[in-house]
Amino acid sequence: RHIPVICIDGPTASGKGTVAAAVAQKLGYRFLDSGAMYRITAHAAIRAGLAIDAAHEEQIAALARELPVHFHGGRIWLDQDDVSDAIRTEEAGMNASRVSALPQVRTALIDLQHSFQRLPGLVADGRDMGTVIFPQAPLKVFLTASAACRAERRYKQLISKGISANIDTLRADLEARDARDQSRAVAPLKPAEDALVLDNSDLSIDEAVDRVIAWWQARQ
Ligand code: C5P
Repeated sequence: RHIPVICIDGPTASGKGTVAAAVAQKLGYRFLDSGAMYRITAHAAIRAGLAIDAAHEEQIAALARELPVHFHGGRIWLDQDDVSDAIRTEEAGMNASRVSALPQVRTALIDLQHSFQRLPGLVADGRDMGTVIFPQAPLKVFLTASAACRAERRYKQLISKGISANIDTLRADLEARDARDQSRAVAPLKPAEDALVLDNSDLSIDEAVDRVIAWWQARQ
């Protein structure tokens, strides 16, 4: 394909969403938040009264194939429900991780993710963008940060939104989510063989964005 894709994968709260969105903005590219697809699927399953487990895999995959999702006004809608805030909670993240371990659900979401690859280019944020969804992408970045650092950032984010949080619980939750994402059979979280690893524990957002842009320019 001739439409360029930059993949930014990595563990929970590594800053990939923020960095990927900023890179997309600077380059004028589209942005795919693939985690949102899993969050929305989990939300749709719960709304339909389905427990998120292997026994309901087929039913949840059927929902995922025909997600009535719309993006407008900077908000995310599932039918008439504005789910923008509901899908961003820690619990929604944990439910997304559980739904994303179901292989049929992953398959069901492939076409939707591919549909974001349009001109002039795409920055894709997730866990398996470089390994599974866009394996021919010319630039794959694996963005990491220490667990302590990721827990602290998430803590500050929540506090700034007026949501109370406990930093030890946050760290335990994100480590549990990473462990599940790394150990699942299908599309586990791991760097692609040709990924460039960027540890942003000690970088500002701007520094991480500049590094990715510099790598991209070096490939042109
Ligand atoms: O990135 P975010 O925290 O929104 O992702 C929520 C969950 O969705 C992750 O913990 C992971 O289990 C799953 N996910 C995935 N593959 C992706 C993106 C997210 O399995 N490409």
